[in-house]
Order: sequence, then structure tokens, then C-alpha cells
Amino acid sequence: MGDKTRILLVGHGAREHVIAESLKKSDIELFSFMSSKNPGIDALSAKILLGKLNDFEKLQKFVQGLNLNFAVIGPESPLGDGIADELVKLGVPSVGPKKEPAKLEISKAFCRDLMTKYKIPGNPEHIISSDMEEIKKFLNQNNEVAVKPDGLTGGKGVKVTGDHLMNDKEVLDYCQELIKSGSRVIMEEKLIGEEFTLQAFIDGTGSHLVGSPLVQDHKRLLNGDEGPNTGGMGSYSCSDHKLPFVDDKTIKESIQIMEKTVDCVKKETGQEYKGILYGQFMLTRDGPKLVEYNVRFGDPEAMNVLPILKNDFVEICERIIDGKLNTLKIKFENKATVCKYLAPKGYPVDAKPTEVIVDEKAVQKEGARLYYASVNKENGKITTTKSRSIGVLGIADKIEIAERIAEKSIKYIKGELYHRSDVGTLDLLNLRIAHMKKVLGK
Ligand code: AMP
Ligand code: GLY
Repeated sequence: MGDKTRILLVGHGAREHVIAESLKKSDIELFSFMSSKNPGIDALSAKILLGKLNDFEKLQKFVQGLNLNFAVIGPESPLGDGIADELVKLGVPSVGPKKEPAKLEISKAFCRDLMTKYKIPGNPEHIISSDMEEIKKFLNQNNEVAVKPDGLTGGKGVKVTGDHLMNDKEVLDYCQELIKSGSRVIMEEKLIGEEFTLQAFIDGTGSHLVGSPLVQDHKRLLNGDEGPNTGGMGSYSCSDHKLPFVDDKTIKESIQIMEKTVDCVKKETGQEYKGILYGQFMLTRDGPKLVEYNVRFGDPEAMNVLPILKNDFVEICERIIDGKLNTLKIKFENKATVCKYLAPKGYPVDAKPTEVIVDEKAVQKEGARLYYASVNKENGKITTTKSRSIGVLGIADKIEIAERIAEKSIKYIKGELYHRSDVGTLDLLNLRIAHMKKVLGK
């Protein structure tokens, strides 16, 4: 069987493709469990299993005899279903939290209640309720709100006053709709500012947390932040690992919020959080507020940080599992990154699966990297599903160069696909800076 480290990767997206690439920089054997056949991950794997990611029986049969050292779980949904708990029964530890700590993402109510109970800073004003009278009262006090169901939404069930809900009637109708479908309503004050993502490696102890470069994602479908919310249409990071509208004090406070959360999850659930923790923050006039936690790398944001990681990612995973991240010095290259996602036309509402023809060599020649997402490759033909299809990534000393690299590579990907051409442009970045100045009254 050899002495190579044997790793299971769960998930089929571009996030998992970049995780696979990062793991394979070391001399390891990769085994992958996917729900659709990602050609990029397939090419890097010794063996793959196709199936629903919560089909633990199928997974168990696959894992037996593989002699795995550990697993890396890409998406949130199997984590919410307890895949890390199942794997540990088979002797396989995971980079990815068990079911209880994974509630940080899976239940927005759990997350808010934890922050309230342990007085973790950055918690916006909110209520969790299915009582329309209580909801109306909160709405009257706050005027502008965000309304969320208490469960996984893929970023698409959240509606915000002014963006998706135009008046009180629309707000209340949406609340009623959520209650009817059996969910409690989480209503929060509308946070005003600029969003940023902070992804961190977590080994169970808050003070061992290691952050990665800040990233900004683009949730809205269309250029200029128009259109419906999506899983994320593209993202960028800067060569100094900060964002020009986020100051050092904010970064420090955000790290502290996450460190405290990690320790409080252990207090609350009795289980250590091990894996990647993704903090989605809004920098507001009152400092950073937590929009939400994700219990895994972001997609696309994983593509902004993993390719510029200087360390051996396998070693980081081992230290996460052993609780010894504090023994590593983790470093990232001082490069800017721009990732653009191509999605099938009609996404996220009514995407039409389409065939795509990818000239991988030409993309590479342009200097870009390509990560497959929700596509299937059968008999040499690549077809999209209803989700985002392919991520392209530019890496350079300057963001404008990284943006050009990503944008120019897209012409080598043919099919009925859509992408945002404004992600990573200086024009958009300057708008963000100006917006933040306005919010802060500068
Ligand atoms: P979530 O799924 O909680 O990340 O929400 C999706 C998106 O909705 C976020 O990235 C924000 O852009 C927006 N959002 C969520 N909560 C709020 C809030 N309290 N105030 C303003 N915008 C929000
Ligand atoms: N980019 C948003 C997410 O991964 O949830």
C-alpha cells in the first residue's frame, strides 16, 4: 500500500478542486467522494466515489480498506448531516467540524444564540421568532431589516430591505411565507457597510486560530451588484492580505470574535471545532459585525487563499487534527488574486444545463488557473448542471493585473455561460472604498 498519506476529499465544486490541487502538491494519494464528476478532481484522484454526500452507507463501503489518514470536507451540507461523526467511527478524523459544532452555519439561530449567550461581540440586533406580532414590533423599531430562514439557504434565502424587500408589506409577507414553510424567522437589523471574508484554520483552540488573507466575494448575480443573490460570482484579495477599506483594528477585532466563538462552541457543545471557519463580516460604523459563519472554506474564496499558501497544506491539515496549529508558522505569498465564476445562463433561478468546451492549455497560457465546479464529464463531453460551472483565477503582484489575467482567459471557455466582468476591477474597488468612507462619515 506504500507510505503515502491517504486523504479523502468530499465535495465536487471548484472549492474542492482547489483543495485537491493544494493537497496534491505533497506526495499523497487522493480519494474523492463527489455528487457529480468534476473532471479536475477526477484527474487528481486515485479513486472516486460518485453518490449523494449524505449516503453514509455508500461512503462506509468505499472507505473500508482504503486505510485513510484523514478526510477534508469541502461543503457544509454533509458536515451538517454529521459526516465528520460518521468518519471518525471508521477511524478517519476530519478537517471539518462534527455535526454539533457545524450548527454554527447550519442553524443561523444557533449562531446568534451562541453569540448572545456568551456575549461575543459583533452580533447584530435580531429576533428569532414565529410570532408575527413580535416580528412586526421589531420591524417597527428597526425599519430596515434582513430576513432569514433558520437553515441552509446557499446564500439565497436571505432577503434584505431595499435590495429584495421594498416595503413593510413585502417584509411581512416573506416572514409569513417562511413561517408557513415551517421555519422560524430570523430578523436582523440591516447592517450597512462593506462585507469581507476572513477564513481561518482552526484546531479546536481559539488562541491557535490562524487567519488567511481577507477576501471580498460578490454575492449578487449581475455587474454593479444588481440581480438576485447567488452562491458568489467572484472574489478578490490584495497582495498585502488586507482590503483597502478594512483597517487593522477591524481585522484584529474580527479575529478576536472568531477566536472567542471557537472557544464558546466548545463550551456550548462539549466538542472542539476543527477545520476551516469562515467569518462573513460587515464593516459598519460601529465596527465589524458578523453576517454569518460558514463551517468550511468559501466558494469562491478558497481559490483566493489556497493557491498562494506557502506552507504544505497537508501538514496544516495534520496540525488541525492534532490540535497543534500553534507549532506552525503559516505564510501566504504577497500576491493579489481575482477569481471569476462562470455560471450557466439563468442561474440561480432557472439555469439551463449546457455543454462547455474548455481550452485548458490556452487558459494556462494566459497565465490563469481554472477550477471546475458543478459540471459533469462523460465521454469527453463537459456539461454544466444548474449551479456555478467554472472558476478562473488570476494571480499577480497587482489586483488589476490579476483581474486582466482572469478576464482574458474566459474567452477560451465556450458555452452558454455568464460571468461578472466587474469583479476585481479598480473601478469597483474604488466604489467600495468610497462607500466605506461615506458609511464612516469620512
Ligand atoms: P448570509 O446567507 O447570512 O450570508 O446572507 C447572504 C447575504 O445577505 C450576505 O452576504 C449579506 O450581503 C446579506 N445580509 C445578510 N444578513 C444581513 C444583515 N443583517 N444586514 C445586511 N445584509 C445582510
Ligand atoms: N462565497 C460564499 C460562500 O462560500 O458561502
